[in-house]
Amino acid sequence: KIYPVILAGGAGTRLWPLSREALPKQLLPLCSNHTMLQETLLRVSEWPELMPPLVACGNEHRFLVAEQLRAIDIKPCGILLEPEGRNTAPSVAAAAHFLLKRDPQAIMLVLPADHVIADTAAFHAAVKCALQPVLQGALATFGIVPTGPETGYGYIRRGRSSDIDTGCYTVERFIEKPDRTTAEKFVADPAYSWNSGMFLFQATRYLAELRVFRPAIADSCEQAFHGAYHDLDFCRLDEVSFAACPSESIDYAVMEHTQHAVVVPANIGWNDVGSWTALWSVLEPDTDGNVLRGDVYTDTVRNAMVRAESRFVALIGVKDLVIVETKDAVLVAHKDHVQDVKQIVEDLKKQG
Ligand code: GDD
Ligand code: MG
Repeated sequence: KIYPVILAGGAGTRLWPLSREALPKQLLPLCSNHTMLQETLLRVSEWPELMPPLVACGNEHRFLVAEQLRAIDIKPCGILLEPEGRNTAPSVAAAAHFLLKRDPQAIMLVLPADHVIADTAAFHAAVKCALQPVLQGALATFGIVPTGPETGYGYIRRGRSSDIDTGCYTVERFIEKPDRTTAEKFVADPAYSWNSGMFLFQATRYLAELRVFRPAIADSCEQAFHGAYHDLDFCRLDEVSFAACPSESIDYAVMEHTQHAVVVPANIGWNDVGSWTALWSVLEPDTDGNVLRGDVYTDTVRNAMVRAESRFVALIGVKDLVIVETKDAVLVAHKDHVQDVKQIVEDLKKQG
């Protein structure tokens, strides 16, 4: 049985000032009337073969997450609460323990809560494709054809086609977030794809690989789950053991090292909405190339993305800008610099 495990504990700092600690990207309605989390949940709920989802998020977001599930009438198999963020390798480990307690054969479909997938049918087909190798012990990734030398993604070099004729390839190398020069080389080579950040594997297989490569994470997560406090849908991990857990993403902790990865090429209309321009590209621009949301006035404006949350915003004679107005902060950025928005958040944190 396949259980969707939705990772909803990230910060989404590149979408500041809309995305905040109290209300991060995945809990916001960015591309439709539903939040990114709700879109992700609805995408898997359309698929009857899947079991109810497990959502993993920060303890502070528990009520928001529960409410967003309720609003779309989805009953989860649980909501896993992390006392503090330890990145994705620990969340997936704790989720594996949670599922194994209910189903020793559980297969996990790990999904970020903040992506757009335009072609749901193709996505389902890709997951089906991965199932056979996964039942034989593989850790499956879903590969996206790269469109540029992005340094914020993992890169997967595929090997020979897998023995079982499933459309899967073995993974020769997995490189998380390469530098710019390396990314440029990868993009020029058709054997490389981007890692979509979604995974399919047996819960027991993930834990076994984690134990080999990151025993400290495996130990703390096991303890954090055993000391967990269960209350209705909520499962709150033990604070002390989880605090002792090293913080690392699944990509660095496991995927870069495992010998058992496979990759399914996935042409699914994927976009990780990681930045303002990425969000821009999934919304429909008007004839001037503008994407305007909220109370916005424009005169001779081209290629601007403007989002006015609480005030009236007027632009005259400018182009290539991203403007995001919120109650207490305003972002004005050139569209070629939106990756640096993350830096604002880091600098603000340093200043306290
Ligand atoms: N529960 C929980 N706890 N979720 C988390 C945590 C955490 O501590 N940290 C991050 N997440 C969630 C985020 O909300 C997001 O949905 C997902 O896990 C992935 O985390 P990101 O922080 O967004 O990772 P990334 O974008 O830098 O990199 C990953 O995704 C890329 C594609 O978007 C990697 O898997 C890359 O290899 C991949 O290319
Ligand atoms: Mg991401």
